[in-house]
Amino acid sequence: MYRKWWFIFAAMLVTATLYRNRLRAYLEQASANVRAFDLPSAGAYDALVASVLEGFYARVTGEVTAAYPGGKLLEIGSGPGRLAVRLAREAPGMTLTGVDISDAMIERAARRAAGAGLSERVRFEVGDVAALPLSDGEFDGVVSTLSLHHWSDPASGLAEIHRVLKPGGEALIFDLAHWLWPPARGGDRLAQLSAASPFGEGEVEIVRWPGFVPAFVVLRLRRAREVQL
Ligand SMILES: C[S@@+](CC[C@H](N)C(=O)[O-])C[C@H]1O[C@@H](n2cnc3c(N)ncnc32)[C@H](O)[C@@H]1O
Repeated sequence: MYRKWWFIFAAMLVTATLYRNRLRAYLEQASANVRAFDLPSAGAYDALVASVLEGFYARVTGEVTAAYPGGKLLEIGSGPGRLAVRLAREAPGMTLTGVDISDAMIERAARRAAGAGLSERVRFEVGDVAALPLSDGEFDGVVSTLSLHHWSDPASGLAEIHRVLKPGGEALIFDLAHWLWPPARGGDRLAQLSAASPFGEGEVEIVRWPGFVPAFVVLRLRRAREVQL
């Protein structure tokens, strides 16, 4: 009986030793894919995660469309484009630019917007929040959901968001609550990040979704209006 298990264990050990380089390469690639949200994880994220967040996107859409019914909006870390399409459908006067660091996410989002007949008002571009490929003071508002905890340089990200906002414009950055996903930044860290950014300060609020569960936070940042002398 024990001999059989020893044989299986020894066979697994020999296989792992012989194929360890290939196994390591496979695991490294899989982990890089997950970190970069590249294929195949863009598809998996869209099907498994983003599809269950429609209620959350509805909550975010209500707030954003009330603030910018007809403005120029930027979405950072737009992922598979579900929020962008929802926003554009509900605010026919809005034009939206989505930026994401992953080619696979951008392709998926552009296909979704085209499928919804929204390509004229919704466009997507590959880019890093820390070096946005966009002009100064271009946007009335910025929105982002569940992306901040992935940014490798959040301080540069906030500085770039400040740069591309018009004076008086606001950024609403939603992320997972820290208790739910430890890599996300808790309220204090978000407040410190905002205080050190060109915004100077930010307001952090708990978002209850689903139901009464405090699973998300929103960081609200407003670019100061220019003082007329
Ligand atoms: C968890 S997904 C969220 C996607 C979408 N916003 C949503 O709510 O379903 C995080 C997204 O942020 C993007 N991302 C990560 N780091 C980024 C960066 N530095 N600049 C822009 N996008 C980034 C990822 O590629 C990914 O699409």
